[in-house]
Amino acid sequence: MSEKIYITTAIPYVNGVPHVGHAMDYLLADVCGRYYESIGDTVRIQAGTDEHGNKIFQKAKELGLPTQEYVDKNAKKFQDFISRLGVEYTDFVRTTDPKHEKRVQEIWTRMKDYIYLSKYEGWYCTGCERFITDKEYEENNGVCPDHQKSYEKLVEENYYFRISDFKERIRKAILSREMLILPEFREKEILRLLDESPDVSISRPREQLTWGVPVPGDDTQVMYVWIDALSNYITVLGYPEKDISDFWPACAQFVGKDILRFHAIIWPAMLLALGLPLPKTLVSHGMVLSNGQKMSKSIGNVIDPIEVLDKHGTDAFRYFFLRHIDTFADSDYTSEKFEDAYNNELANDLGNLVQRLATMCSKNNFMFDDEPAIVFPDEYSELMNEFKFKEAFDFVWTKVQAANKKIDDKKPWILAKENRLDELDEVLTELVLDLKVVSQMLLPFLPETANKIIEVFAGKIEPPKEPLFPKK
Ligand code: MSP
Repeated sequence: MSEKIYITTAIPYVNGVPHVGHAMDYLLADVCGRYYESIGDTVRIQAGTDEHGNKIFQKAKELGLPTQEYVDKNAKKFQDFISRLGVEYTDFVRTTDPKHEKRVQEIWTRMKDYIYLSKYEGWYCTGCERFITDKEYEENNGVCPDHQKSYEKLVEENYYFRISDFKERIRKAILSREMLILPEFREKEILRLLDESPDVSISRPREQLTWGVPVPGDDTQVMYVWIDALSNYITVLGYPEKDISDFWPACAQFVGKDILRFHAIIWPAMLLALGLPLPKTLVSHGMVLSNGQKMSKSIGNVIDPIEVLDKHGTDAFRYFFLRHIDTFADSDYTSEKFEDAYNNELANDLGNLVQRLATMCSKNNFMFDDEPAIVFPDEYSELMNEFKFKEAFDFVWTKVQAANKKIDDKKPWILAKENRLDELDEVLTELVLDLKVVSQMLLPFLPETANKIIEVFAGKIEPPKEPLFPKK
C-alpha cells in the first residue's frame, strides 16, 4: 500500500558557505526519498536554513552587511549547493521567513503551560549555540572541544522549558522504539543525557540576542535559536494553521551526531507539549573528517564541495559520499581516496561493464522483446528499510562485480565466434537482466547514471556514445 513519507534534514547555519560535511544530511535524505518513491510511496523532503543567532549577526557585522542581506546571500548558496548534489527536496524553509517566525510564536504560545521564567547562571558556547552544564564545563576545562573557544559565563533572566514533565515519556518512546534512534549504539548515550538534562533555557534577553524571534508577550526576550530552528520541521508543513497529519510524524529525520541530543531530547519534549506524535526515526550520521580531523576553518582543512563537483560531477560526488563515507560512523575524506574510487570503481567496475555488455548486445543484435519485471533482492530492501545505505550500496556493488566476473568466466565473445548462439543468448539474457536490476537499485544513489543505464538497455541496445565515467 502506498504511504505518505516525510523526510527531514538539519538546517545549517548560514554564517558560512557549504562545506562537504553539509552534504551528508541531504544525500542520505535524498537516497531515502528516492527509494520510497521507487516502491510507490509519496515523498516529501524538507530542507532549509537556520538564519538567526549571534554567530550570524556577528559575521554580517564583521563584513559590514545588513544581516538580512547577508543571510539571503548565503541561503541562496545552500539552495544552489543542494541542487548541485542532485537532491530533490519538496519544501525549503528559512527561519527568517515571516511565515515561519509567526508560526514559531504560535508554537511558543501553545507550549506555554510548560514554560516558566527563571534566572540562568552558567555557561554558554556561541559556537554550539548551547547552554553548557557545570559537569561539561569541568570535563572540557572550560573550552569547547569542537570550537576551541572558551565557554562564556551568563547571568540572565530567561524563560525555561520544563523538559522534566516529558522525560519519562521520551525514555519510554526510545526504549520501545516508538522513536527509533539510529545507529542503535547512540541510544544509551541519549538515555544518559536525558537523565542528566535539566530544564532548558529557551530565551535570551534581547540585548544579548538581537537577531531572533521575539518571545510573544515579552518584548525584552528573544527565543533561543534551537526552539526556532527545531520548529522548522513542522512550520514548513503549515503547522499550526494546517492539519499536518498526512505527513507528520516524519518517517526519518536525518541529523549529524553532534546535534542528535537536541533532536532526541528538546525536540520530542516540544512535540509532546504540543500534543503531536514523535518522529518514527532519528537517523544520526557521523562526521566527514579531513585528514582524520573534523573540518574547521581554523585548522584549514575544509574541503570545498563545489570544486569536487566541478571536477568530477554530481554522481561521482554522490558515489564517494554514499559508499566511502559510512552512513553512521565518522569517515575520512581525501582527494586520493576520491580519485581511486572514481577510477577503479566508477570508471572500471561500472563504466566498463556497461560499455562492454552494451557493445556485445549491439554486435549480436540482442534485446528483450518484452521488458522483464524487476524485483529487488530481499537483502537490498531490508538494508534500505533499515537506513543502512552504505551497506545497501556495497550490496549493489557486489552485483556489479559479479556481472563483470560472469562476463570474464563465460566469455560471450567466444560463444559468438563459435556460433554457439543459444548459449550466447542465455548468457546475455542473464547479464542484461542483472544489469537492469542493478540500475534500478542504483537509482536512489546515482540517479543520473542509473537512468542512463536504464535507457541503454531498454529496447534496442547501443553502447553509450561517451563513457559513463571518463578516466581522469
Ligand atoms: N543549525 C543547526 C541545525 C538545526 S536543525 C533544526 C546546525 N547547523 S550546522 O550548520 O552546524 O550543521 C548542519 C548539519 O550539517 C548538521 O546535521 C551537522 O551535523 C552537519 N555537519 C556539519 N559538519 C559536518 C561534517 N564535517 N560532517 C558531517 N556532517 C556535518 O547544527
